[in-house]
Amino acid sequence: MLFMKHLFFIFLSTTLFIQLSFAQGLSFNDDMSVHKPTFGHKAMVVSADKYASEVGVQILKQGGNAADAAAAVGFALAVTVPRAGNLGGGGFALFYDAPAKQIKALDYREVAPSRSTEKMYQHRDGSVDSNKSLHSLMGTGVPGTVAGLLDLQEKYGRLTRADILAPAIKLAEEGFPVSQSLALSLWDHKDRLKKRPETARTFFKYDGRPYAPGEIFIQRDLAESLKLISTYGKNAFYTGPIAHAIANDMKTYGGIITEKDLENYKPVYRDPIVGRYKGYQIAAMPPPSSGGVHIIQMLNTLENFDLKAKGHNSAASIHIMAEAMKRAYADRSKYLGDPDFVRIPLDKLTAKIYGRRIAESISQNSATPSRNISPGALFSVPEESPQTTHFSVIDEDGSIVSNTYTLNLSYGNAHVITGTGILMNNEMDDFSSRAGVPNAYGLIGGKANKIEAGKRPLSSMTPVIVFKNGEAVLATGSPGGARIITTVLNILVNVLEHEMNIADATAAPRVHHQWMPDELRIEQGISPDTQTLLKGLGYSVSLKAPFGAAMTLAKSSLGVYGYADSRRGDAYAAGY
Ligand code: GLY
Repeated sequence: MLFMKHLFFIFLSTTLFIQLSFAQGLSFNDDMSVHKPTFGHKAMVVSADKYASEVGVQILKQGGNAADAAAAVGFALAVTVPRAGNLGGGGFALFYDAPAKQIKALDYREVAPSRSTEKMYQHRDGSVDSNKSLHSLMGTGVPGTVAGLLDLQEKYGRLTRADILAPAIKLAEEGFPVSQSLALSLWDHKDRLKKRPETARTFFKYDGRPYAPGEIFIQRDLAESLKLISTYGKNAFYTGPIAHAIANDMKTYGGIITEKDLENYKPVYRDPIVGRYKGYQIAAMPPPSSGGVHIIQMLNTLENFDLKAKGHNSAASIHIMAEAMKRAYADRSKYLGDPDFVRIPLDKLTAKIYGRRIAESISQNSATPSRNISPGALFSVPEESPQTTHFSVIDEDGSIVSNTYTLNLSYGNAHVITGTGILMNNEMDDFSSRAGVPNAYGLIGGKANKIEAGKRPLSSMTPVIVFKNGEAVLATGSPGGARIITTVLNILVNVLEHEMNIADATAAPRVHHQWMPDELRIEQGISPDTQTLLKGLGYSVSLKAPFGAAMTLAKSSLGVYGYADSRRGDAYAAGY
């Protein structure tokens, strides 16, 4: 196996340097123009993939708006970026309707099946069996992507369902040349993907060999599923042939989703979380995503410091940011869950005074050990992947969709539903399988995020839109599991506080702290003397592989511009 991998890497010798460069955090690419900021456009799409971004632009040029383009990009990514783009997962879309001056927060997160129970992933002795939640159909939540994307397009789009599905169908049916990063991703995950013959048949050649960069990847079953959705709408997936196929696999392979669970699935529009930071307004996703709450909480904390004077990525700045992160992730572990099931103290968590109290609890001279930070300790005042993918779309009217969706782990649980080409998510692992036991991202949860039938698992996905003087000026979001929220925070602080352009703000090395483990994670590029200063403050500093992949749009008097994070090899900004 090791020998095969070695051969494959020799085969990819022209690409190896490029991939290693990413792994080391350099923004080197074979086609640098892909990642250059593009200025002065009227409309743009930034996504994890060139084909999908171009699909979005095609839809906008056809007369579609941001909602049409976003839905088309979402369906296209399910074909071209199968590790995270999906039909069998879920996500969140923040939609700014510019003509109506309204923001909609669309929750199409997966839902726990009706037969879910609190201890479904626990052994008799109470220990957690993460194989069940991560690597079996037991870990699949009722998917929301198809319902969500179609709902957004039907309610707010201008084109027909057939228009927005046509490009994805073409990509699946006629295929597309495999990129270097898709080839490497499929190779990296081959052991999981080859376990089930249906999955292996979908992602490898008929003789089991992997696709090489440039070879044409065709997904006929997926094309048929997309055609059914184009013709019959959400019914094809939730009550029709795809629903039958999902329910059949569930019965055959030990899953618990029933046809009734699929029929009952509904996306929900919620009130966005809105906060302010030094003259900007930030709109973000409410629970069941923890992203919006904690972005606002951390910005409210950081507002009390002059980070600009402390300097970008200086030890003093990183220290303050890490302390704000720790306290937010501690609160996430206790208070956050599905708002339809638990009462979340949103007002308290996002209050300016709470941010000030947290700021006051931060010592300028030393790191507070995580064991000394308790969730909500300061409430006693007058009164939380390479696995996920984000895309941002802006149309000529200025309407924006900032969308993050996922299968959870790359390729979800690697189960392609028989005959459909559709991968299933393993989102149930985002619940707390047991209070205090970390999930796949090391995140700790409590009762608020316990498993209950019909409940949505807590997420970290953080699509945001930033406004200034009533005008939308920025949209961003990122994959990265637990590091999603802090990746978005790094970018917001870089742009709003350090006045960096979105290219510099995205490329800059990132820092992350999630309370537990008590470890400050940094990307390459934080200088050795800064690291020494941080260690002196008491941090355990850990250099990690690059994290996050932010797809960012910004609007200025020059027009619309976009930047696709070079931490993802295929990321692409397209506009006109
Ligand atoms: N599955 C990752 C998240 O939703 O945060």
